[in-house]
Amino acid sequence: MSQLALIDAAPVTTGRGLPGIQPFSVLRTDLGPWRDRRRAWEDLGLHSRRGREHVTTYKTADAFGRKMAAVNAGLSTFDPVLAEASYSWYCPEGGRVLDPFAGGSVRGLVAANGGYQYTGVDLSPFQVDANEEAAADWRARDLLAAEPRWIHGDALEELPALPAGHADYVFTCPPYHDLERYSDHPADLSAMRWREFAAAYSAIIAETVRCLAPDRFATWVVGEVRGSTGYLRGLVPLTIAAHDAAGARLYNDAILVNTLGTVPMRLGAQWRASRKHGRHHQYVLTFVKGDPRKATAALASL
Ligand SMILES: C[S@@+](CC[C@H](N)C(=O)[O-])C[C@H]1O[C@@H](n2cnc3c(N)ncnc32)[C@H](O)[C@@H]1O
Repeated sequence: MSQLALIDAAPVTTGRGLPGIQPFSVLRTDLGPWRDRRRAWEDLGLHSRRGREHVTTYKTADAFGRKMAAVNAGLSTFDPVLAEASYSWYCPEGGRVLDPFAGGSVRGLVAANGGYQYTGVDLSPFQVDANEEAAADWRARDLLAAEPRWIHGDALEELPALPAGHADYVFTCPPYHDLERYSDHPADLSAMRWREFAAAYSAIIAETVRCLAPDRFATWVVGEVRGSTGYLRGLVPLTIAAHDAAGARLYNDAILVNTLGTVPMRLGAQWRASRKHGRHHQYVLTFVKGDPRKATAALASL
């Protein structure tokens, strides 16, 4: 059966069921089934970069960086297939998704398309406005089975206002420290020095764990970043330690293989100068609060 036929067998808009996308510990976004499904989502109209026009990246700092930025617009966009797969694997049907760093509209639109009740928090008013506009467009085209909600504010202040047990699944992609600079707002994690970042980030993780109902999963998509001296910061161990301290334990770790993009163009120089690998992967870390078997049983029963 062709990939297109597989997609036809379970149209994206029907929500659950992802033919050809399996929960292996290496998630190959660069292969046919994943790429076909991503294209199907994109065809519905995903405007993930809207609201992020003012974001700067370290990659845009020099002439070479600007050339790179022209190739991929210099910004991260969230993969809709990863969102769709994660919801179907870890969130009870119709469950409540909490996203403390919403960013673009993708995670909210995909959740609402699948009938999940999504709440995203983001510090950027531009981002929240753009996301609401995107949701209005999807609503008008009858693509939403539930209403996504975005809260404008600092996650550190907004999450404590939510009741404990408010969420059935936490799903997010936080700032990778200062890899992208979202704003100069003092509460913006991307504008903080590493120590302040680590403290605020850990406190937000603790709040998301408090908000999560017992026996539920949480997935954080994170990438490693290098500090100014070239060493890896350790965002992955920090994410694990903060969850552990808050009472959620690491349960699954997967590698998300991204398409190579501009990595080969940068690899030669960075390898010759300092032996840095050409990074084209992120980590998909799934935690559980409570009992993983009960959390799994809850997927069917809600
Ligand atoms: C990594 S981005 C998400 C990027 C992701 N790839 C996407 O497009 O969905 C993280 C988001 O965190 C937001 N942010 C930074 N500090 C925050 C805070 N203290 N509270 C809530 N949101 C924050 C930024 O405005 C940004 O939109």
